[in-house]
Amino acid sequence: MASLTIRKLDEAIKVYLRMRAARNGRSVEEEVRGILREYTDGGLQPALPSPQQTAAPAPHHAPVAGEARVTLIIGGGIAAYKALDLIRRLKERHIRVRCVLTKAATQFVTPLAASALSGERAYTDLFDPESEFDAGHIRLARDCDLIVVAPATADLMSKMAHGAADDLASAILLAARRPILLAPAMNPMMWSNAATRRNAEQLARDGIAFVGPNAGEMAESGEAGLGRMAEPTEIADAAERFLRPAEPRPLSGKRVLITAGPTHEPIDPVRYIANRSSGKQGFAIAAAAEAAGAEVMLISGPVGLNDPRGVSVTHVESARDMLRRVEAALPVDIAIFAAAVADWRVANEGEQKLKKTANAATPQLELVENPDILATISKLKERRPPLVIGFAAETEHLIDNAKAKLKRKGCDWIVANDVSTASGVMGGDRNSVHLLTRNGSDIAVDSWPVMTKEQVAMELISEVAKRFGKSAGTAA
Ligand code: CTP
Repeated sequence: MASLTIRKLDEAIKVYLRMRAARNGRSVEEEVRGILREYTDGGLQPALPSPQQTAAPAPHHAPVAGEARVTLIIGGGIAAYKALDLIRRLKERHIRVRCVLTKAATQFVTPLAASALSGERAYTDLFDPESEFDAGHIRLARDCDLIVVAPATADLMSKMAHGAADDLASAILLAARRPILLAPAMNPMMWSNAATRRNAEQLARDGIAFVGPNAGEMAESGEAGLGRMAEPTEIADAAERFLRPAEPRPLSGKRVLITAGPTHEPIDPVRYIANRSSGKQGFAIAAAAEAAGAEVMLISGPVGLNDPRGVSVTHVESARDMLRRVEAALPVDIAIFAAAVADWRVANEGEQKLKKTANAATPQLELVENPDILATISKLKERRPPLVIGFAAETEHLIDNAKAKLKRKGCDWIVANDVSTASGVMGGDRNSVHLLTRNGSDIAVDSWPVMTKEQVAMELISEVAKRFGKSAGTAA
């Protein structure tokens, strides 16, 4: 019988499967099995839709209780043409769509096309006498369950971040009381520009949600990078998650503890020893566990990241602080130690700033070993979490070192990653990992392809959900 490796599937299909699985509270494998069963039973006519198939038939969706309504704001970028497909993807999910086009958007798509596909009038003008006689921009902002902006251009994001309201789209966004979901699309240089970064951070702080952008080819010939708008199916899935949160989620009722980031070990009141960890991987795992329904406690060393929504975050400095907070968070069902904890601290930490004085010798730092948090928790006799997962950051002999670490520390699984300078993992957005799982004295190694840190997090949490699904919360 043929076997199917989910990881080798097309990225868009994987995203679709993950979303569908999360919505139905199943693992991805169970979801695929369900689809095949439905197909062979004759209950599922269409094949899995790919975002490239513009004529793809409606995916299989649960019947909707009450009709959800979306105001779709189409910004002026080349990706605006995909907004037309998005209208169809939303409508096939039984979501009513009302479109608003910015002036620039009308250079790419016509209001007529948007209104023909949505089946409703499309709006463009703030001072449209027909709709403004009853303050139409306020109605468009309030008379919906969600506002989706696709494509969200750099200009539109800047206007939102600064509270501008000089056209219909920005006035709606300023008057909105509903959740807002942005699908950014722009040239990679514009996306990485410091001004756009500031605007995106501000919008995230204001509670605005994002889907994408993805990495890929740009419309400009020869250019590639992060900035491509998420595919219409991804955006529609994200919109649907807002409108109809999936219940039950695979980790609901589970307590998950996660450590992340570096630790800072003081030398004196102004200096410290640190490492290059950004905390991105641990934060992504916390967000994925939260999305899977878990109660998540994240204990983080100093990082420059926003706290993930819905996660209880404790900020610490040193390894000893981190251990204290970890112990205080017990008991938990799952503990994931993604922090790059400093192995040593300074024994003779100065109470005052060390001074350079004439003729004085260069100060000598005496180092002592820090507590090993992962090993301490793995070896607890009481209150040991049923599933303890460590990370192995290695620069050589990755698998052998990770296997030795798994045994030495006494954890159940290890996520091994190559942190050599050439890999770009430390501080970067992508990760290449191997999952080592222990079953008695056997250690299985599953090597994953290079993925974004968010994808690694989703895969890891999906493996955790499978483990708990099988053993119903009694993993050993
Ligand atoms: N870890 C920990 N406490 C420490 C050191 C490491 O909890 N004092 C955890 C990390 O969070 C990670 C795992 O142990 O989950 C392995 O960390 P890593 O830095 O790869 O290994 P070390 O134990 O530091 O060993 P070495 O530096 O020799 O590779």
